Amino acid sequence: MIRHFLDLHDLTSQNLQLILNHAHQLKRSRNDAPHAMPLAGRSIAMIFEKNSTRTRVSFEVGIRELGANPLVLLANDLQLGRGETIADTARVLSRYVHAIMMRATLHEKVEELARCATIPIINGLTDRSHPCQIMADLMTIEERLGTLADLTVLWAGDGNNVLNSWISAAAAFGFHLRMANPPAFRPHQDYLKHAYDAGAKLSFHDDIMAAAKNVDVVVTDTWVSMGHEHSEMRRTLLSPYQVNDAVMQNAAPHALFLHCLPAHRGEEVTASVLDGTQSAVWDEAENRLHVQKAIMLWCLEQI
Ligand code: CP
Ligand code: NVA
Repeated sequence: MIRHFLDLHDLTSQNLQLILNHAHQLKRSRNDAPHAMPLAGRSIAMIFEKNSTRTRVSFEVGIRELGANPLVLLANDLQLGRGETIADTARVLSRYVHAIMMRATLHEKVEELARCATIPIINGLTDRSHPCQIMADLMTIEERLGTLADLTVLWAGDGNNVLNSWISAAAAFGFHLRMANPPAFRPHQDYLKHAYDAGAKLSFHDDIMAAAKNVDVVVTDTWVSMGHEHSEMRRTLLSPYQVNDAVMQNAAPHALFLHCLPAHRGEEVTASVLDGTQSAVWDEAENRLHVQKAIMLWCLEQI
């Protein structure tokens, strides 16, 4: 069985924890000399249909640090941009490289890539999910709070791709996930169904202040994801769900603030929270590097 990394609910909790444990170890040993090069001689392609700073740089650096050769492919430069199918692209790239990370406009494209490739496919964000990001978030919580079990996490704002992956994570790790968002911006039904089937502890809230009571982690994301239309309606409906000092004061005193970035100060989060003492967003961004190295090692059966 090829080890794809498309959605957190495709992996067992044991495998997700194995990846996290390995990521902590890779972080601790990053500056040890000599560097282990477990992927020496391999090549890993990255296909981007959308912009990226963190995903692009952390994957490229991570691939090099594991000893492999990274290839950054912008979808419009490939024949994919002129109509060659995902299926044929998958078949051809499978003959050249050992794994592909794809950031895609539509989730169906990474699924099609995985169906037709003979190598592992990693989801580097789609319209539906962002599993690599949530693995970095979980790693950050483990570092700061020591555990994931029994925590309560509050998601505030848009019910987007990042939230869908948080829902899968809540099912896998057993923490409580409270979601404060307007009914028009609720998460994807498929992710909810998978999570409820696995016994996830999820709740929806209209009032962000009540939802924030004593939570251990507060998370938000942009109100306008890539591919969404900027609209006044979005801003009007989502503005009551801004994470500000009052929300953080309702959370537990040790609560962390997380955001996958890029952030929009004054919209989904105030500058005082993003740049404040409870914010762990820079560690969270760094942890993309460590956790994705562990994900690639898992996909290529090195752990
Ligand atoms: N968080 C995240 O995926 O950032 P980029 O869009 O910069 O890759
Ligand atoms: N929800 C955001 C995440 C960016 C990393 C988007 O899809 O644009």
